[in-house]
Amino acid sequence: MTAGLTMKPQVLVARAVFPAVIARLAEHFEVEANPGDEVWRGAELARRLQGKAGAFTTGSERIDAALLVACPELRAVCNMAVGYNNIDVDACSARGVIVTNTPDVLTETTADFGFALMMAAARRIAESERFLRAGEWKHWSYDMLTGSDVHGATLGILGMGRIGQAIARRGALGFGMRVIYHNRSRLDPALEAPLGARYVDKEQLLREADHLVIVVPYSPASHHAVGAAELALMKPTATLTNIARGGVVDDPALAAALRQHCIAAAGLDVYEGEPHVHPDLLTLPNVVLTPHIASATVATRIAMADLAADNLIAALGFGPSAGRPPTPVNPGVLGPR
Ligand code: DGY
Repeated sequence: MTAGLTMKPQVLVARAVFPAVIARLAEHFEVEANPGDEVWRGAELARRLQGKAGAFTTGSERIDAALLVACPELRAVCNMAVGYNNIDVDACSARGVIVTNTPDVLTETTADFGFALMMAAARRIAESERFLRAGEWKHWSYDMLTGSDVHGATLGILGMGRIGQAIARRGALGFGMRVIYHNRSRLDPALEAPLGARYVDKEQLLREADHLVIVVPYSPASHHAVGAAELALMKPTATLTNIARGGVVDDPALAAALRQHCIAAAGLDVYEGEPHVHPDLLTLPNVVLTPHIASATVATRIAMADLAADNLIAALGFGPSAGRPPTPVNPGVLGPR
């Protein structure tokens, strides 16, 4: 080090991200970036994090207790995702490591996609396209690729957080749907009223929904929250859409339900063990499969990356809100204001 120069803290940007975000981080930090966009796990991730005060992560990097022990200088983990089930938050809190996520900036974009996936499943859009491209369209017929209506149907939402409420708004206000939901706790009636949303227990939700949309965060409590027993309660005409996390739905049980027409169709953006997709799902015509892209618009991905960078800069004591990252997951680590 040259005498008189202060070393910048080191941070790891664990995946490829917009160059402007790297440039902004480089104003404050020595940045190790990952332009090749490899997914670093376990020992490789721990090796890359040696000497780093902060990590800019995505849902692909697992930050667990063993990694924290191996990386004692780590003080901030800033996830470019609203979900943070890839991070052991309790282990981070125990070591005084601040964790942040990117809520709000992706709510409407993700809700748009959830609605699109639900409509694609209900109206058999992907299946129709495959049919046409395969040259199977010979003539019009009265029952060709008939699906189920979305307008006026019952929208069931499992997990009524920000994204669930944004989907409910689309359904109630745009498509005249009756909205029922199940959540850990009931919403304030002032939030329910404009949507006509009704809180029901999980069994009623499954029995009554024409279109079930799953937006519940993943946790041990929501692991396989929808499996064979739950699918058996649903209407044979119903659709299921999962934009939450893989592992909330039991994928092999869903594949069996789709094959046996226990439910009509599904739309999935997330999978247990992704990017691996359960092979049974790949063979079925009545499921629309997308590769975890619900938040993937250019504007929203820029907003997510910017917010993750704002969090990292503030968490490590720089910028206008030094010491106060905008969206902490474990604010207790920051101490009193
Ligand atoms: C999120 O933000 O949690 C999305 O699923 C992208 O990972």
